[in-house]
Amino acid sequence: MAKFHTTDLSKFSFLVTGGAGFIGSNIAEYLLSHNAKKVVVYDNLATGFEDNIRPFLSLPGFRFIKDDICDLNACKNAFEGIDYVFHQAALGSVPRSIENPIATHNANASGFLSVLVAAKNAGVKRIVYASSSSVYGDIQDSPKQEKKIGKPLSPYAVSKLVNEFYADIFSRTYNMEIIGLRYFNIFGPRQNPKGAYAAAIPLFIDGLLNNTPVYINSDGEQSRDFTYVENAVQGNIKAMFCTDKKALGSVFNIALGDSISVNQLFNTLKKITGASLSPAYRDERKGDVKNSMADISKAAHILGYSPSVNVEDGLRQTVEWFNNYFRK
Ligand SMILES: NC(=O)c1ccc[n+]([C@@H]2O[C@H](COP(=O)([O-])OP(=O)(O)OC[C@H]3O[C@@H](n4cnc5c(N)ncnc54)[C@H](O)[C@@H]3O)[C@@H](O)[C@H]2O)c1
Repeated sequence: MAKFHTTDLSKFSFLVTGGAGFIGSNIAEYLLSHNAKKVVVYDNLATGFEDNIRPFLSLPGFRFIKDDICDLNACKNAFEGIDYVFHQAALGSVPRSIENPIATHNANASGFLSVLVAAKNAGVKRIVYASSSSVYGDIQDSPKQEKKIGKPLSPYAVSKLVNEFYADIFSRTYNMEIIGLRYFNIFGPRQNPKGAYAAAIPLFIDGLLNNTPVYINSDGEQSRDFTYVENAVQGNIKAMFCTDKKALGSVFNIALGDSISVNQLFNTLKKITGASLSPAYRDERKGDVKNSMADISKAAHILGYSPSVNVEDGLRQTVEWFNNYFRK
């Protein structure tokens, strides 16, 4: 992965909540490969895997704490001596939140509050947390700009909006440095292709590589701003070390700033994998939006964010990873 920081990471201790998950493990890997003094992954393995962090377990500066972010005392203990927190832990997926809104609320809203309190208690220098493009809800504008959001379309979107409200209030009330990142459809190595709530890209790749059925919701003409995980890691690192005070207490779109339809995505993956499988179409999913594309100019101007990997290159790297690690 390219280098996105100028600060000497060997002077600082980092904690990544949700660090055994997809995006969190990519952030932890970045920190470790750039000589961070200490990297703590805090994760209850609700949807993450020890396999995602197995290569790090033997590294001297690495520690894994298997615990729940809703446990305030466990958080307080883990956060002692930590300089910077990347908060990625949450229960993702719109359908999961529609089926079990309480679990989503507990992990995403109550868990976030506990992370903020623990961070305040430990006096951490800065928290960068994962919000989501789902907060744009029913707004039709395209591309989406941070200042204008619509009505949330799912309990998941509400939980991420609650994060943004709490982050704002903690920034202003306790003078804490907190920055939110609204991710748009992140994909890449270590994203889980299994289970009822898997995302489209790992599901498609799994189906194409193993010749098992691939389903597309609706007519496949819905579009998304698919973003390779290295760009999301860049967003996190740039936000963590951004010296522009305008970033503090604010939220930023982290995306490619372009969109393609799900049908185009499927066809690109078909070309990359060389598979001949055709998708099956099924009903539209509740809570889904038709089109989603980000305006990334705010992140570009204030954080210096500039996505370096396009969709096709990102998909190639993802397919390569799946070929090496996830083939049946
Ligand atoms: N992947 C995307 O496209 C996307 C888009 C928008 C927002 N996000 C957000 O980014 C973050 C990371 O998502 P991801 O795609 O890596 O998902 P993931 O499921 O791979 O990772 C989430 C991690 O959080 C852990 N976790 C969940 N609840 C926890 C709890 N109560 N205590 C401790 N750990 C807990 C899980 O075990 C998992 O390892 C999440 O906050 C998610 O809502 C992701």
